[in-house]
Amino acid sequence: MNFEFTEEQLMIQQTAREFAESEIAPTAVERDKIAEFPYEIVKKLGELGFMGMMVSPQYDGAGLDTVSYVLAMIEISKVDASVGVIMSVNNSLVCYGLEKWGSDYIKETYLKPLAKGEKLGAFALSEPEAGSDATKQHTTAYKEGDSWVINGMKNWITNGLNADYHLVVTQSDKDKGHHGITTFLVEKGTPGFGHGVKEDKLGIRSSDTCSLTFENCKVPEKNIVWEVGKGFNFAMNTLNGGRIGIAAQACGIAEGALDASKKYAKVRKAFGTEIANLQAIQFKLADMAVKVEAAKLLTLEAAALKDAGKKYVKEAAMAKLYASKVAVECALESIQIHGGYGYVREYLVERFLRDAKITEIYEGTSEIQRVVIARELLKD
Ligand code: CAA
Repeated sequence: MNFEFTEEQLMIQQTAREFAESEIAPTAVERDKIAEFPYEIVKKLGELGFMGMMVSPQYDGAGLDTVSYVLAMIEISKVDASVGVIMSVNNSLVCYGLEKWGSDYIKETYLKPLAKGEKLGAFALSEPEAGSDATKQHTTAYKEGDSWVINGMKNWITNGLNADYHLVVTQSDKDKGHHGITTFLVEKGTPGFGHGVKEDKLGIRSSDTCSLTFENCKVPEKNIVWEVGKGFNFAMNTLNGGRIGIAAQACGIAEGALDASKKYAKVRKAFGTEIANLQAIQFKLADMAVKVEAAKLLTLEAAALKDAGKKYVKEAAMAKLYASKVAVECALESIQIHGGYGYVREYLVERFLRDAKITEIYEGTSEIQRVVIARELLKD
């Protein structure tokens, strides 16, 4: 077993760290406060190759591995988890699936600008009555000539307002259950395609989330991703990789909380000494560090398995389950270490807690991760 990163992986990590500190950190607090989308930052991430990290150069991507993606996601999310989720959705829920299952037309037309960060993607699976129970799709699609007509509603869609291309999961043949589900790539501005208001969220406030509406929205047949009836398999397989991205985001939040706590403990004085010298604080820092390390190892293991072309469904779910729990726990502990200062906006650490909670919910709740893990375990 090799725990050494390659030169290239270390360079990506360093680039992400420097970018996060110089370009993301200065505006993170204000964007969180006013819930403003980081347009300029996303543009620059695209120029760095961070919006299509795992896409091959043939389709204008950076051609990197999943381990590099995890390292970059951790660095970005340490500073701003909102930017982390925008990047994660584009990389793992949109670009990855399009490269693996998209037609040549889709890859040439849509994947290339997505991989360069010139266009932004969204993944629209969830509905008001189909969240965890994702096979129960109410959004329908029927064929009309060379097109398909979509009707229905999606909700909780990350990048929903700002995305140019949306992967929309629909029920195209009710009688076939989840084998009658088809995914379409729908362009922003297509007649009949609208969206609801931006959700006013607890955390990741600088990313946008909204519902999408489809009223007789006509999409060309060539915009089907994979094939008719494969839409659910597409969504599930895509989410396996997405969960590695969210696990990395959670690791970043947890490590950000640990770093802030270490820094504060070294300057804050109580009982005649810096609180870093008190065992009560040292034990908290030690426990946080163990959890962060374990979460990172699980996440990197899932990424390495994916890169090696091995099965990673269970490991990705384990990584997301554990890392998201650790993110919430470390954020809470960080507030405790900061005392009253941890409870006010000025000291930043309360944002870690607000941002951490969603990692236990999106791309499959912690309960769903347990379902996935248990089913995989019982296959043996
Ligand atoms: N990987 C690959 N395939 C999978 C899979 C996985 N992890 N889980 C299920 N499948 C496949 C099954 O093999 C089966 O396919 P076949 O019939 O072709 O063999 C099909 O999916 C149906 O599976 P089940 O019979 O097990 O279906 P189920 O209803 O009992 O359970 C579920 C399915 C695992 C609970 C699934 O509905 C699920 O994962 N739900 C959570 C959905 C989710 O993660 N939503 C997140 C929304 S996206 C988001 O948050 C994006 C964002 O904006 C940030």
